Amino acid sequence: MNLYDVYPLFDITIDHGTDCKVYDTNGNEYLDLYGGHAVISIGHSHPKYLKALAEQASKLVFYSNSVINPVQQQLARRLGEVSGYVDYSLFLVNSGAEANENAIKLASFHTGRPRVIAFNKAFHGRTSAAVEATDNPKIKAPVNCSGHVTFVPMNDIEAVRREIGRGDVAAVIIEGIQGVGGIIIPDDKFMIELRRLTQDTGTVLILDEIQSGYGRTGRFFAHQHVGIRPDIITVAKGIANGYPMGGVLISPMFKPVYGQLGTTFGGNHLGCAAALAVLDVIDEQGLVSNAETVGNYLIEHLKGLAGVKEVRGRGLMIAIEMEYPVKDLRSRLIHQSHVFTGAAGTNVIRLLPPLTLTRALADDFLLRFTQAIS
Ligand SMILES: Cc1ncc(COP(=O)(O)O)c(C=O)c1O
Repeated sequence: MNLYDVYPLFDITIDHGTDCKVYDTNGNEYLDLYGGHAVISIGHSHPKYLKALAEQASKLVFYSNSVINPVQQQLARRLGEVSGYVDYSLFLVNSGAEANENAIKLASFHTGRPRVIAFNKAFHGRTSAAVEATDNPKIKAPVNCSGHVTFVPMNDIEAVRREIGRGDVAAVIIEGIQGVGGIIIPDDKFMIELRRLTQDTGTVLILDEIQSGYGRTGRFFAHQHVGIRPDIITVAKGIANGYPMGGVLISPMFKPVYGQLGTTFGGNHLGCAAALAVLDVIDEQGLVSNAETVGNYLIEHLKGLAGVKEVRGRGLMIAIEMEYPVKDLRSRLIHQSHVFTGAAGTNVIRLLPPLTLTRALADDFLLRFTQAIS
């Protein structure tokens, strides 16, 4: 059997990784400024993480959600403390799309309304409600187009007000910082007005922190730069450092109903042990403030380089918008400079490194990047 051919691949086989470096099968070392798409939060093969996985695996990998799972309870308690959301509840799933799918469903159950507002350039995943709220017609099949999502321009509070005024909007879903859309930071004033408007109209505000959360931007969640509290927060990517996991943080205004939400694998013992180790490492190594310091350093030093049109971002979630398409540059960065980066659209290089990136490694990247653009 062949693999279903849906990914354009770089001709590289990654064999192993340590912290911010990965190594191919020929022994070449690469600097990982991509984190496997914002997934590697505490660095590849962190010893504490490997130990937690091995210990849990030797005891119990999985049992179903029909019995008490103390590792799940521990994770919920720890996430509440580290994130500042101790009064919220946690529902665990297996991916980002699944987290958004459940968030949208919960909002619709709660309000009894069918419609969702999302923003131009949004990306929320590839399952049915999540992909319908994603602003990319190319990844929506006819079955995903139920007409329940309306897109409005980012930062246009009047457009949101108009749509909510129709009386059928269950939720507004917005990324803390748009990732796939090219690292677009919503205006602080808009976020504050959006919180007020959704609160006044009984509309659920869902913050998709799947890419921007877990310390990446220099706060635990990107929306904490603004000081608002959403009704639902979705997380995935870095939460278990590569073990597939997603989560929905749910405000106390929601009342759980047996049978309304459910999953076979979500919140399994091994995943929870991985996620607990991630929170411990984030806390013990001060990775949220490291993301802020090293990220700001990178942003400052990238500005003004040859061919760089704009540098956007917060912490270690950075867009380098070039004056030209970046396909060849990314290829040079990988094959000649041995640096992994991400992209967004045609002209944007995206940096989403592990939160353990040091200033010395940032300098190393700046040197390799400067050589690649000259
Ligand atoms: C903001 C955001 N939401 C949702 C998703 C979907 O996550 P997953 O691929 O785990 O389903 C992504 C993935 O890139 C994302 O960046």
